[in-house]
Amino acid sequence: MRRFSADYLERTREGLWADTDALADFQLAERESVLDVGCGSGELTRVLAEACPGRVVGADRDHQLLAHLDLPVVRADAYSLPFPDDSFDLVVCQALLVNLPDPEAALREFTRVARESVAAVEPDNAAVRVESTVDAESRLAREARERYVAGVDTDVALGSRLDALLTEVGLRNVRVRRRDHEKRVAAPYSAADLEAAGRKARGDAIRSRRGEMTGSEADLDRLREAWREMGREVVDQVQAGSYERREVVPFYVAVGDVSDR
Ligand SMILES: C[S@@+](CC[C@H](N)C(=O)[O-])C[C@H]1O[C@@H](n2cnc3c(N)ncnc32)[C@H](O)[C@@H]1O
Repeated sequence: MRRFSADYLERTREGLWADTDALADFQLAERESVLDVGCGSGELTRVLAEACPGRVVGADRDHQLLAHLDLPVVRADAYSLPFPDDSFDLVVCQALLVNLPDPEAALREFTRVARESVAAVEPDNAAVRVESTVDAESRLAREARERYVAGVDTDVALGSRLDALLTEVGLRNVRVRRRDHEKRVAAPYSAADLEAAGRKARGDAIRSRRGEMTGSEADLDRLREAWREMGREVVDQVQAGSYERREVVPFYVAVGDVSDR
């Protein structure tokens, strides 16, 4: 089971909903109740609660993450929600389906619990783009991403096929928008930027995901060594104040309506 820290979720979601245009089809101002499944530490739940005058509830199987929310929460499994049929106007998830072996089963469960609509916000991790002042960074990020997308046991690129997924489980009138989450690093660097540079120099990303990447032991040893070398160059450029990086993660936002039962 893949686990996430509140620190990781806060860092990776920073700025994602600084612009909420892509959430327009959620029609939050008109919903009386919203359930956010796989809410983690509540990065999206808080955004929903700000725009929705009704009841917003977070659900996750990880009780440690739920402790970070200052909203009603319930510990629950996405495949088997502890609510009767038609309990919430809108059931939402963000970056949950990419982590589930059976995303269709979870969407069917959301459809059971939703009175009006079901929505999903999911990335296409195969289409992430990285530009960097360190020459090797973009190339190595692409190699690591390709090995991960091919090796991991869930579809981490499913954002781009949300339309088909929602339609497949019987949702109607599916609307899809795209929100490109752009993250930039440049001087002056934040504490988080300095930590990220240190992680690169240690090769943490390759070590922690190694079991989920395709390739022989020798391939992955070589990738980690090249990654650490790239990381040391990042640290040098950070010290000189010249390091710059831009990453774009495409998120797809899809909403479908529940058919009359
Ligand atoms: C990548 S995190 C996303 C968290 C949050 N939605 C966000 O975007 O910041 C995935 C979340 O799904 C939760 N999760 C994974 N499988 C689950 C399941 N079967 N039932 C409920 N929650 C699950 C994890 O505990 C984690 O909090």
